[in-house]
Amino acid sequence: MGKDTLTITDNRTGKSYEVPISLGTIKAMDLRQIKASDDDFGLMTYDPAFTNTASCKSRITFIDGDKGILNYRGYPIEQLAEQGDYLETAYLILNGELPTRPQYDAWAYNITHHTMVHENIKELMGAFRYDAHPMGMLMSTVAALSTFYPEARHVHDRQNRQNQIFRLIAKMPTLAAFAYRHSVGLHFVYPDNDLSYCGNFLRMMFSVGKYDVNPVLERALEVLFILHADHEQNCSTSAMRGVGSSEVDPYSSTAAAIAALYGPLHGGANEMVLRMLKEIGSKDHIPAFIKDVKESGGEVRLMGFGHRVYKNYDPRAKIIKRIAEEVFEVTGKNPLLEIAVELERIALSDEYFVKRKLYPNVDFYSGIIYQAMGFPVDMFPVLFAIPRVSGWLSQWNEMMDDKEQKIARPRQIYLGADRREYVPLDKR
Ligand code: ACO
Repeated sequence: MGKDTLTITDNRTGKSYEVPISLGTIKAMDLRQIKASDDDFGLMTYDPAFTNTASCKSRITFIDGDKGILNYRGYPIEQLAEQGDYLETAYLILNGELPTRPQYDAWAYNITHHTMVHENIKELMGAFRYDAHPMGMLMSTVAALSTFYPEARHVHDRQNRQNQIFRLIAKMPTLAAFAYRHSVGLHFVYPDNDLSYCGNFLRMMFSVGKYDVNPVLERALEVLFILHADHEQNCSTSAMRGVGSSEVDPYSSTAAAIAALYGPLHGGANEMVLRMLKEIGSKDHIPAFIKDVKESGGEVRLMGFGHRVYKNYDPRAKIIKRIAEEVFEVTGKNPLLEIAVELERIALSDEYFVKRKLYPNVDFYSGIIYQAMGFPVDMFPVLFAIPRVSGWLSQWNEMMDDKEQKIARPRQIYLGADRREYVPLDKR
């Protein structure tokens, strides 16, 4: 058995260095001692987009992208989606263990009793343009919550953090539904605390007069929320951690995470999938579209396909495909499903996608289900943000207790001009 170290020889100087290997990594700071001369800054790593850099140690979510495995706190996503509910999953992610019955009841009570928002929030949301994108409204309103709860800035106080966690998880469905109703000119519906987390959200979204929550749709949403709760160090979670590392309040860092999720390469992808399927229009047009993707040199992408981490079928996509069938029994089939299934079949047998290990990701089918349930396309990223808040907050909470963390501050390789003298404006 060899040693858990790495020996590096600097061919510029002929010197050798031995650095420890721990948990499959070397510390980037251990490279700083490697210098070509005494006044050399020392060696750094260059890793744009952090494709091979661990930024933290975490105990929350495990992904094996090659095998298509996703576990929250050790529990396989398939088991949680089959047997659990979203609030239980959020508790698990945040606290590390599944709740006992009394713990679950207390947790659900606390979430349920924080669903209301200050009346001023209504006015704030009412001030948006009639056609404002609900994700933009959500992002701004979550940021505005920091002004309603200024005590949230005491981020080293654990109980205080817990209070903001209750509030954020509880208020997300209320804000999301208000954003939607504003965009369609409907009155806001206040939360009904007798309903489940998802049932209440469906009612706040769709009720005009009497509204009975359909149990199949409620359960489908529950599963979709479980699948979206956390996904380790993705773009929005990194934003949450990066911004949160400045010790700003969690509403401000959650707003930053929502901004990251808004992008079409991240949480905006399910919206783009729907637009893409509509544009393709019919099964006959699929081969021409696939040809466009392949010939575009990466410009045209098959949205909902490919993943930075999964180089196999995204396990969440498998579960979503099954849920789709249950939802369509209630809502009738979404005509875009046929196109999606055929697109998937063709892509999975095409050498371009096979060679690059491009498989359907979580977004490929989720939009089709959301649309069948009556959610407009603009709401898709919002539907992603609601459950992901529990993941963002648990990652933030973990970071706040992690003594190895400090304010996030990457290095750069400066390639700009050398020092030069200022030339006054009229002499240039
Ligand atoms: N369609 C066509 N080609 C693709 C796709 C795609 N969806 N995704 C990647 N490729 C190709 C790239 O063009 C590249 O080809 P090349 O090697 O010939 O240059 C190769 O596959 C590798 O792609 P990268 O962009 O380097 O992979 P990366 O890990 O950076 O990207 C990403 C991952 C952003 C998810 C990408 O696959 C993509 O854009 N997918 C479509 C958008 C999408 O569905 N996003 C949702 C992700 S899941 C989530 O956020 C919840």
